[in-house]
Parts: sequence; C-alpha cells; structure tokens
Amino acid sequence: MDMKSDGLNAFEKAMLSRIAQDEIKENIHQFTLPYRKMMAYYRCAMMQVETKFNVMDEELSLQYDRNPIETIKTRLKSPESIANKLIKKQAPLTVESIEQNISDVAGVRVICSFPSDIYMLADALLKQDDITLLKRKDYIANPKENGYRSLHLIVQTPIFLHDQKRLMKVEVQFRTISMDWWASLEHKICYKKDVHIFPEIGKELRECAEIGEILDRRMEMIQQKVESGNS
Ligand code: GTP
Ligand code: MG
Repeated sequence: MDMKSDGLNAFEKAMLSRIAQDEIKENIHQFTLPYRKMMAYYRCAMMQVETKFNVMDEELSLQYDRNPIETIKTRLKSPESIANKLIKKQAPLTVESIEQNISDVAGVRVICSFPSDIYMLADALLKQDDITLLKRKDYIANPKENGYRSLHLIVQTPIFLHDQKRLMKVEVQFRTISMDWWASLEHKICYKKDVHIFPEIGKELRECAEIGEILDRRMEMIQQKVESGNS
C-alpha cells in the first residue's frame, strides 16, 4: 500500500478527517443552538406551570383534605410536529416563527378528580399575577362534534433566566379521568385513520363520550353527598 500517495501518511489523513468531523459537529451545534435554547425555555415554562399545580394540590390536600389533581402530564412538541404545523400554516421554518405561530409547544395536561375541580383550578391559575390568559376554549360546556371534552387555556408565564425575563406560552388542558380516558382512546382509534368511511363509528364514540359525562356527574354528586354528610 502506498502510504504517501497524496503527500499524507495514514496518521495525518486520520487526523485531518477527525478535524473535519469535529468542525461539522461544531457547525451543527452552532446551527441548532437557537432551537435548543428555545426548547429549553419552553421546558422551563412547562415546569413552572406544572409546579404551580403541584403547589395548589399540596396546599389543598393539607388545608382541606382534598386532592383535586389525579395526575399531571407534560409534553414538549416534537421537532417533527413543530415543522409540520409551521408548514400547514405556511409560516417560515425559523425559531422566531415557532414563537409567533405555535401556542402549544409546551403542553401541561391536568387530570382532575371531578368536573368542578377543573374550573376551580383554572380560576386559581388565572388569578396568579404572573399568569396571563391568551385564549380559552371550553369544550366541556361546548363539547366538540365528535364528543371531545376538555378545558383548554393558552397562558403566558414568565421564566426568569440568569440575565433576562422571558414570556413563554403554555397550553394547559384540564380533563377529568373520564374525559382523558375517552380522548386517549379516541386518539388511538382515529389518529391517521379515515374513520369517516364508517358513520356509525362517530355515533358510537359520541355516545361513549356522553356516558363518560353522565358518570362524571354521578360521581361528583356522590362525592358532594358524602362531603356534606361529613361536615
Ligand atoms: P391543534 O392545531 O391540534 O393544536 O388544534 P387547535 O389549535 O384548534 O387547538 P384545540 O384547542 O382545538 O386542540 C388542541 C389539542 O386538544 C390537540 O392537540 C389535542 O391534544 C386535543 N384535542 C382537540 N380535539 C381533540 C379530539 O377531537 N380528540 C382528541 N383525542 N384530542 C383532541
Ligand atoms: Mg395541539
């Protein structure tokens, strides 16, 4: 084998290829830094809102022996979903455009025990002086055509970084266990599938959502009876 065919020996070639790889890695790192920074800000905002609910749950459980929250789920929108949403909106694929055009990059889902807990917690969150309401959609008072129920808020919350304060948007979805159970299964059944070809499926799903609503109301009535009997 000719070790010096282009004037470099194998060691020198290996070193050069290593330098090139490091340079590519550094370029990718620099190129993706603004995106990763933005996602970190959204993650912070999401944690902040989640903490607000944990604080309220802790306080209510100590003071009133009530745990209005069953579980809290958080999720950051994937890069793929972000890109798809921007393309759908015909918005530019830039970091600035994400902030301007997408309001559910950071998502917090609060699963409550009873429907009244949803409104109590939503009001309590909105009363906090660092929270601003940007949009409210009440799919409990007005369920979607397919039966979907949930209370959606888009709120703005500040995050305090070492040298600046930033206002970030967070989508908060409030559901009872039965609303969440229906939405999760409906998503599983219908996502990326053309269920419109079976009109009876839509009717079935709507009926299941209505049964969920009835159960929510009955359980809440039972809870109120027990509570008033014990006070
Ligand atoms: P997106 O572009 O999907 O965010 O919709 P939107 O901007 O019109 O917001 P909307 O508040 O109506 O819904 C946002 C989110 O609520 C969705 O991303 C889902 O998590 C949930 N959602 C809304 N409709 C349905 C539904 O019919 N079924 C299920 N399973 N989830 C839903
Ligand atoms: Mg969404």
